[in-house]
Amino acid sequence: MRGLNGKNVLITGGAGFIGSHLAEPVLEAGAAKLVILDNFFVGKMGNLSAVKDKTNVIVYREDASDLHAVEAVVRNEHIQVVYNMATMALNYSFFNPHTACMVNIRIADTLLHLLRNGEFESLIHMSSSEAYGTALYAPMDENHPLNPTTPYAAGKASADLMVKSFCNLYNLDAIIIRPFNNYGPRQNIDGGLAGIIPVTVRRVLAGEKPVVEGGGLQTRDYIYVSDTCRALISAYGHDGLGGEIINLGSGTEYKIIDIINYICSYIGYKGEIEFREGRPADVKRLCASSEKAKNLLGFEAEISFEEGMAKTLDWYLSGYH
Ligand SMILES: NC(=O)c1ccc[n+]([C@@H]2O[C@H](COP(=O)([O-])OP(=O)(O)OC[C@H]3O[C@@H](n4cnc5c(N)ncnc54)[C@H](O)[C@@H]3O)[C@@H](O)[C@H]2O)c1
Repeated sequence: MRGLNGKNVLITGGAGFIGSHLAEPVLEAGAAKLVILDNFFVGKMGNLSAVKDKTNVIVYREDASDLHAVEAVVRNEHIQVVYNMATMALNYSFFNPHTACMVNIRIADTLLHLLRNGEFESLIHMSSSEAYGTALYAPMDENHPLNPTTPYAAGKASADLMVKSFCNLYNLDAIIIRPFNNYGPRQNIDGGLAGIIPVTVRRVLAGEKPVVEGGGLQTRDYIYVSDTCRALISAYGHDGLGGEIINLGSGTEYKIIDIINYICSYIGYKGEIEFREGRPADVKRLCASSEKAKNLLGFEAEISFEEGMAKTLDWYLSGYH
């Protein structure tokens, strides 16, 4: 076992949803220094309000795919451990597929180049269940075939293959964490890039009908963000996992229509729901096997759906503070 105590840690995409939640347990684990690197595409300084004024926290506004910029930060701050959380949202790939795909590959390429050159020691790379596409069987283990249905997911799957192949060839200390759907406070609620939970809250609060695309019978495996972050800390703690891929999920499937109904009932919305055509590339079913996370990390999701939704919805309802 090893720990983050005394380590200099970099989180790419650290001003985003999951990255900003990860910042807190990284500091609690005793990191000497925490460096956040984000281009603020959707990241917000407000997401970092709990940590940004600490003397050992430094925020850089940089592009994580810019090799020279990341190299300068890694060298300047003597970074040892990198959590790669930076990405552009899945929905972005519907109107800019090339950038949405390639950003994932370019960031992985940048970090692998630096890791291979010994500029830092360990990489915890964030994948996504979207890389699997619709479940061919459930629960989905790490041997489930990759069948990305969006350019975002193709970029995630490609980046994962890159990380794995570099580990095979160069024996690097890089682990691939593949979370299923996350939810919690600070998930982006603005504009066209927001996910189903924040979008539904936003519509209901604005007096608009919630929207269900494609019937709502699609399922997702929702895991609360603090569970994911606990696993990410634990992933570094277990050395010798270079090249491993580890799913993170709750193992429970939720229909999209049930999620939307839950939000409506929590907020007290009794109006109609608008049903629209499904998106052609929409994944129909996702349900994680977390057996490997349990075996390798001793990890199991702890936050119940009801508890997690209450924390999430209360945060949105209280004006996102
Ligand atoms: N949210 C989920 O349900 C979920 C599920 C599975 C996997 N993931 C993965 O977890 C990671 C974090 O996701 P999230 O939900 O926090 O997303 P997010 O969009 O909230 O955060 C991503 C952050 O990356 C930043 N970013 C984008 N491009 C960048 C670039 N080129 N350089 C630097 N920063 C850049 C954004 O500004 C943002 O702050 C991603 O890798 C994502 O694929 C998320």
